[in-house]
Amino acid sequence: MKFSLRAGKPTAIKTDCIVLPVDAAGKLSTSGESIDKASDGELSKLIARKELGEANGSTLLLQELNGCKATRTLLVRLGENKKITASLYRAAFYNAAPTIARPLHQDVQSYMSEAHVTDMSVDERIEAEVQILRDHAYSFDGYKSKSTKSAGPKSYRIGADNAAGNKKALVDAVALADGIDLCRTLGNTPPNVCNPQWLESNAKKIASAHAKLKLTVLNEKQMHKLGMGALLGVSRGSAQPPRMIIFEYKGGATKEKPLALVGKGVTFDSGGINIKPSNGLDEMKYDMCGAATVFGAIEAAAKMNLRCNIVGVVAAAENMPSSDSYRPGDVLTSLSGKTIEIKNTDAEGRLLLADALTYVTKFKPHTVIDMATLTGACIAALGHEVGAVMGNDDLLCQQLHQAGQRAGDQIWQLPLWDCYRPALKSDVADLTNLGGKGAGTITAGMFLQEFASDYRWAHLDIAGVAWPHRGKTTASGRPLPMLLRYIRDNNTA
Ligand code: BES
Ligand code: MN
Ligand code: ZN
Repeated sequence: MKFSLRAGKPTAIKTDCIVLPVDAAGKLSTSGESIDKASDGELSKLIARKELGEANGSTLLLQELNGCKATRTLLVRLGENKKITASLYRAAFYNAAPTIARPLHQDVQSYMSEAHVTDMSVDERIEAEVQILRDHAYSFDGYKSKSTKSAGPKSYRIGADNAAGNKKALVDAVALADGIDLCRTLGNTPPNVCNPQWLESNAKKIASAHAKLKLTVLNEKQMHKLGMGALLGVSRGSAQPPRMIIFEYKGGATKEKPLALVGKGVTFDSGGINIKPSNGLDEMKYDMCGAATVFGAIEAAAKMNLRCNIVGVVAAAENMPSSDSYRPGDVLTSLSGKTIEIKNTDAEGRLLLADALTYVTKFKPHTVIDMATLTGACIAALGHEVGAVMGNDDLLCQQLHQAGQRAGDQIWQLPLWDCYRPALKSDVADLTNLGGKGAGTITAGMFLQEFASDYRWAHLDIAGVAWPHRGKTTASGRPLPMLLRYIRDNNTA
């Protein structure tokens, strides 16, 4: 699908399908009105007759209107009670996407961004449009003998009077969609393929495609030498050796401190000796979605050519039971020097992150954001709709929350207050890897905070939002829309 911007008279455009918004009161946008005029009021007549449904996202497909060069015209109802909000706009697109992307529509011209969305700039409308069409076109069928899905229109043009002004928005939107696709595909890849070394080979491909990217990968021996005892403890039961993958994106001045992104990359989480119940165990291939988000963010940042420095750290390991696994009762010494009593081998993500959060200090980041499918408790608290954010800086948490609201990729802050600290007490070591009975998402955050002491830091628990997606067991690409919105709004001049 190739996206572009096109100005010009809507009636003169030759295309398979023109897409027009209609508000709750039945009013067309500027381009819609000119087509209505050219067709002697055909559109307003049909709207008045209620041929177009009144629910947000209803569609009406028309053939060969008089005075208009397009083969088809698609009307899309937007809004309820006059107001068109960002969430209604997105929901309408999701509804209309299958019709917009019919195989007959190889060339599409859309005027949807002309609609007056109250809480969304034109640039954001374009971003949402691209994201939803790409989401609709996405398929993960590389492991099927035959591909089953059509890829959507070859050419998708967005009508814009200010084509030059919106050009950067379109580049960014496509970059974000590419990052999301990458994130989803890494997440969806089966765990017998997607192991730490396979992630490394993907990192190499990405790094070699972008001049501003530098890649460093630590192997098991190097991690041993550095003293990453927490990460190595998790990995020890697996035949797959672990990796620490470090991207450095240099889009800012050399001296400018970087933003650091850290991702949990457990390529399969069996639970280890505290083995998980068998129901849904296959879904633990998604336990590297935090890592996949780092990959996607780096890819998107490079394609957006962002003017800032970003370090992306991926801690990759597999959590398996074996005769050489770490056990409940073991004490591990982390890279920070802090000792950790293992009370449950299934609380492995925080151990990987502990070492990654310590390691990242060497880049002197101004801010660190980690992303992890960390706790089942997060799904109990916020479901699959909303992710959790917590950290040592309320302003940072608020900025991330705000970015989530704007991007339609919502997160909610949970408190990291001292009253939760006793849950991490150990009789034999500095702390344990298991919290108390309640507040599992928070106590996991409290554990991480012990290792994130030297910088402004936020932790995103994405256990609920990384998958499923729109009713299907597939990676969602979240929280990339939120994250890239945050980075562009707060980290670039
Ligand atoms: N990867 C899981 C968390 C998870 C579970 C994510 C289900 C998505 C869906 C994590 O490693 C884990 O096992 N967490 C435990 C922690 C507990 C042992 C303290 C959990 O949430 O049960
Ligand atoms: Mn686990
Ligand atoms: Zn896990």
